[in-house]
Amino acid sequence: MAVGSLWNPRHQHINKESVMEYKVLNNGLRMPMVGLGVYNISERETQRVVEDAISVGYRSIDTAAMYYNEKGVGDAVRACGVPREELFITTKICDSCYTKEETLRTVDHSMKQLGLDYVDLMLIHWPVGNPTVMWHTLEELYEQGVFKAIGVSNFYPNTFPKIVDDAKVIPVVNQCETHVLYQQRKMTEYLKPYNVAMEAWSPLAEGRNSIFKNKALVSIGEKHGKTSAQVALKFMIQNDIIIIPKTTHRERMIENINLFDFTLTDDDLREIRLLDTGRNVTGWPSDALIYNPENR
Ligand SMILES: NC(=O)c1ccc[n+]([C@@H]2O[C@H](COP(=O)([O-])OP(=O)(O)OC[C@H]3O[C@@H](n4cnc5c(N)ncnc54)[C@H](OP(=O)(O)O)[C@@H]3O)[C@@H](O)[C@H]2O)c1
Repeated sequence: MAVGSLWNPRHQHINKESVMEYKVLNNGLRMPMVGLGVYNISERETQRVVEDAISVGYRSIDTAAMYYNEKGVGDAVRACGVPREELFITTKICDSCYTKEETLRTVDHSMKQLGLDYVDLMLIHWPVGNPTVMWHTLEELYEQGVFKAIGVSNFYPNTFPKIVDDAKVIPVVNQCETHVLYQQRKMTEYLKPYNVAMEAWSPLAEGRNSIFKNKALVSIGEKHGKTSAQVALKFMIQNDIIIIPKTTHRERMIENINLFDFTLTDDDLREIRLLDTGRNVTGWPSDALIYNPENR
């Protein structure tokens, strides 16, 4: 696309026909490929942010007990006017549980904060505490219909087998730090035989390392009439990775979801693959192993 001087890729409207693609998870549930993450958004602001997101087309929201804003998400779900069954709400339990009772308590706390009858996707946030006990408890609640799906987050080959080796229910996703600067190709391949979807947290690398000014992303974006953020996010989508970018700004919400009216070429994909540093950039551990049930 020619880029005229008055053209501004941020001034975009949602193309209703291409607004969303879905991933069919290993239990048959359909999950939007793009959701809104609400980490670091205050309890007070969350309801407004989530209502804005839903009004511009988001249907998937990612929160966690650790974000202390589940109540704002639940309030927005009730106030937004979109039927509950059209929304996909993910939360993550406080993860340092060692017993079934502790796990049930943290789940109960999240459910009360959200004020919802069910959660679409419940994740174990980190592999700490006793993930096996937590998983078996989530399996029971899944079978009772409290969650439509269950999954994990931040599990790597040193911890993932603790879940799947004697699981009745295989996780539907593993949510890990993944973005153009840390593409996680090995981990994505590792998950394929289990039919577990990769879900990217911090899909914009938290805006670090001048990602939005990255020359390759900017120039590929100019070719397609898109921003560097959109190119970075579309790269994930074309690699079949679910994304949950966070923003509190309505215009960026529109930008971050407006991804389905262009396709990166093979040359674009090749160029973006070269941006992979092979290392995480957010400072959170990317192969956390604090699994030791004896250690409490
Ligand atoms: N499972 C886990 O352990 C874990 C860990 C971290 C995050 N997460 C989840 O992943 C979600 C996303 O990750 P994240 O919040 O860490 O980071 P991110 O989505 O990679 O980046 C968010 C940052 O980018 C900015 N931004 C967003 N869209 C933009 C755009 N189009 N142009 C320019 N700047 C833009 C935001 O600023 P503004 O808000 O000011 O627009 C914010 O500073 C979280 O909210 C959370 O739900 C999960």
